[in-house]
Amino acid sequence: MASCFLKVLLFVMLYLLLTAESNTSMHTATTRDYNFDIRLQTATRLCETKNIVTVNGQFPGPQIVANEGDSISVKVTNYVQHNITIHWHGIRQVRTGWADGPAYITQCPIQKGQTYTYKFTILGQRGTLFWHAHISWLRATVYGPIIVLPKHGVPYPFAKPHKEVPIIFGEWWKADTETVINQAMQAGGVPNISDAYTINGLPGISYECSGNHAYKLEVKPGRTYLLRLINAALNDELFFSIANHTLTVVEVDAVYTKPFDTDVVLLTPGQTTNVLLTTSPKSQNFMFLMVASPYKTGPARFDKSKTIGILEYSNTNKITTNKPFFEPSLPNYNDTNFATKFSKKLRSLENNKVPKQVDKHYFFTVGLGLTPCNQNQKCPGPNNTKLVGAVNNVTFVEPKTALLQSHFFNKSKGVYNTDFPTNPLVQFDYTGIPPKNMLTKNGTKVAVLPFNTRLELVMQDTSIIGPESHPMHLHGHNFFVVGQGFGDYDAKKDPKNFNLFDPVQRNTVSVPAGGWVAIRFTANNPGVWFMHCHLEVHTSWGLTMAWIVMDGKKPNEKLPPPPSDLPKC
Ligand code: C2O
Repeated sequence: MASCFLKVLLFVMLYLLLTAESNTSMHTATTRDYNFDIRLQTATRLCETKNIVTVNGQFPGPQIVANEGDSISVKVTNYVQHNITIHWHGIRQVRTGWADGPAYITQCPIQKGQTYTYKFTILGQRGTLFWHAHISWLRATVYGPIIVLPKHGVPYPFAKPHKEVPIIFGEWWKADTETVINQAMQAGGVPNISDAYTINGLPGISYECSGNHAYKLEVKPGRTYLLRLINAALNDELFFSIANHTLTVVEVDAVYTKPFDTDVVLLTPGQTTNVLLTTSPKSQNFMFLMVASPYKTGPARFDKSKTIGILEYSNTNKITTNKPFFEPSLPNYNDTNFATKFSKKLRSLENNKVPKQVDKHYFFTVGLGLTPCNQNQKCPGPNNTKLVGAVNNVTFVEPKTALLQSHFFNKSKGVYNTDFPTNPLVQFDYTGIPPKNMLTKNGTKVAVLPFNTRLELVMQDTSIIGPESHPMHLHGHNFFVVGQGFGDYDAKKDPKNFNLFDPVQRNTVSVPAGGWVAIRFTANNPGVWFMHCHLEVHTSWGLTMAWIVMDGKKPNEKLPPPPSDLPKC
């Protein structure tokens, strides 16, 4: 009798326990729906008004906010003449490659009057990312933040900030940016440099006609703010600093880092960085300027201006309009020493996640080269050549149809070849005196990876045309940055110094000017994944390539078929 009672009691307790379990785990993942209408909008900057392509008439575009684990659905409707696609930069797109967005890689563009709904789930990442157009140069004005909060009830690995503030850097041209790049491509020349940098869409007080249109952050004393920094500029790495305030880096590319303090943060285009800003305990009757200025290594001309925003303490005496201000001191535009030191400070918060074994080694040269012009073209380069970009001396030729469809339906013939070189076909002193023959080969070539390949990729800058740092961005995966150095990579000596303990994990890494970087990742996401220099001019010039990651054996290791509304070419 007693034992029967005990059994029932046990059963009831077990039941309560189980239902309690399922109640707590049920509420988490939700679907977040967004509508993105691609529309023209007039915008006035630097004394001039022009039409820009926007999402919902907003510039910068709307924020996507979600919790880790949420599903996102963005219905994009194109009301402009330009073809468009949207890329969710840094979202890993686990088995949702159809929603990744690079034009002619994972999808045909959305034409005028058409609609495409991007659907994906945010898995295993939280932090700051961004979305942007991924066709031609439309991302100049079509971009906005992606904010992935931790799952409900999961804290940050740092004290909860008083407030979170997205700060997105951009680059502004007075001219229409599609005209800028189209003319340059036609003439075989270098596109015009930008006229300003922007903070949250505003050039700020160092430029003509900025008026009161500077980005302003009002803070309270004695509080901590989480600044979500995003470099959405097209062609420039940027230093960022706030006068008299130290920043604590806690996350890059939506992966937590071991925290460290710095006065200046460096972000390449495509990189994001979360920093904590702790305000002074007492209110300050000053303006503290926040400044972004370029870090530049290559031989090309660039925009040497700086964008300025203002940090101000609220509750201060508001009567004085001309408060005294402090200005931060930023590194020189060519301060590679700072860049190197800064990138070496970045360490993953979690240790020992990097693949310790490697199945396949790749070595890619990245840089510029020359290609002959069309017969009736008059190009500025020697012997009627023009500048192009190349990876292992292959200049990527954009296909007429999307690679992912061709791959999925086994119709690669006439679209792409699978013979992307594992190593440079010609070896030379990559960072020494450039070889006589600087001509590259054109092709739409991909590198094929069996599912779960653990690969190591060394990317080596070349001094052809001139040493230059290249922010290389990989779609569909994060990677670990296990090593970097200057000069030519030494396959015998350099791996001894690799960090296989706590290397930073990210989606965009700078190949140092005149140097190399080594990354590792496991190719566990089936699909076609673009990899390219996130300097948009270099993407236009073909400093890009694509990986094909094959399906695995299990059902959850395969890419599902395309959604029915996937655009056609
Ligand atoms: Cu942010 Cu392929 O790009």
